[in-house]
Amino acid sequence: MKRTIVNEKDERNGELQMFLTNEEEKMFNGEFGEGPQLAIQLLVDVGEFFGAERLIPISSAHVSGVSYLTGGDGLLAQLSLFVQKGCKVAVPTTLNPAGMDRKYWKDMYIPPEFAEKQLQILDYYEKMGVMTTCSCTPYDFGHILHKGQHIAWAESSAVTFANSFFGARTNREDALTVLAAAITGRTAYFGLHLTENRIPNVEVRVEVPIKNTAEFGLLGHIVGKALEAKNFPYGPIPLFRDLIPEPKPHQFKALGAALASFSTSLYHVEDVTPEQELIEKAEFEEKLTVTADDLKEAIEEFRPKTEPDIVVIGCPNANWEEIREVAMLVQNKKLKPDKEFWVFASQAQRAIAETVGIANILREAGVKIFSDTCPEVTLYDKSRFKTILTNSTKAAHYIPAAALNGIPTYILPLKEIVEMMFQ
Ligand code: F3S
Repeated sequence: MKRTIVNEKDERNGELQMFLTNEEEKMFNGEFGEGPQLAIQLLVDVGEFFGAERLIPISSAHVSGVSYLTGGDGLLAQLSLFVQKGCKVAVPTTLNPAGMDRKYWKDMYIPPEFAEKQLQILDYYEKMGVMTTCSCTPYDFGHILHKGQHIAWAESSAVTFANSFFGARTNREDALTVLAAAITGRTAYFGLHLTENRIPNVEVRVEVPIKNTAEFGLLGHIVGKALEAKNFPYGPIPLFRDLIPEPKPHQFKALGAALASFSTSLYHVEDVTPEQELIEKAEFEEKLTVTADDLKEAIEEFRPKTEPDIVVIGCPNANWEEIREVAMLVQNKKLKPDKEFWVFASQAQRAIAETVGIANILREAGVKIFSDTCPEVTLYDKSRFKTILTNSTKAAHYIPAAALNGIPTYILPLKEIVEMMFQ
């Protein structure tokens, strides 16, 4: 390791800050091309801002900023520039959901002009060597994570799952820093990459049994909302005590995605998650108790006020177990006329559902399965869909946002959704 060469910042303030290896120094000087140079300069800037002493190698990256709905023409222009500069990713890099199913977009009522731009975005990513997996659950296929592994992921729910369930280490990257990390194969060593920043700072006692996936999401919503106004350097890091039953993997996803809708990127569950040794080091800045009344209030807040036009399941994207759960509930039933029911799953998890025959059960009941996209970043036909129903707190948090689809969205447990929407 050696100190950075003089860069513009150093000339300005005369201070040398981050250490770079020989290879990093060459990259910084442009010896590997303009793309990697811009990327490493961004990482150094970010690292210096957060007080990082050095960069660290990462084993994978997960890139967000994919949907044409959220990125628009600005994203297209930026990606076109990266491609022109010959940017290529240096580590296995997966991609977040796009705004539509690449193959079945017409079944989602997507306008052709939107589809064309979306496909162009995917084409640019492919040219950069990104695996266009288009799912927010890259840990359900491909990336196998372990405790202490340094990665650079964007997409808040995936970040929270990777940190909490596996004990891997990533900050919540944004669309630009994660691309820089993917191109250089490195990220700045600060924040949740350091053990001392992963110690829980909020104790949450859960006095009420959590009965289903929707309720795990609502639990995350209750805790996230209670901590919304508080300031923690790397977000609240809750430690859940007395959480029963022990969440299944997809319930971890629901809880983490809801917490991530606020500013949590890591949580611990007593006796369950992998970093138990950090619990005894905790000095809690906040203590919360979630009661049966809190849960009841949250259930009522999101209960449908009118009959919904469409159900969306798969935020975060559903795995085969969740698809199977839907199949078991809708078997031998028919979706009510003029209603739609969409399940969003990664291509990989959908392939399992197709192979074992679960997908057919869904189709026979009137359910559509889509991949490459998600309930939040797709474009809904607002002449058809005025109200949405889901079992996901994160979906209910973001779909109504004016900058996205602006459609009222309600929550029920899956079993009650099926009772309401099928005959
Ligand atoms: Fe995933 Fe989209 Fe939900 S990215 S967590 S399905 S909002």
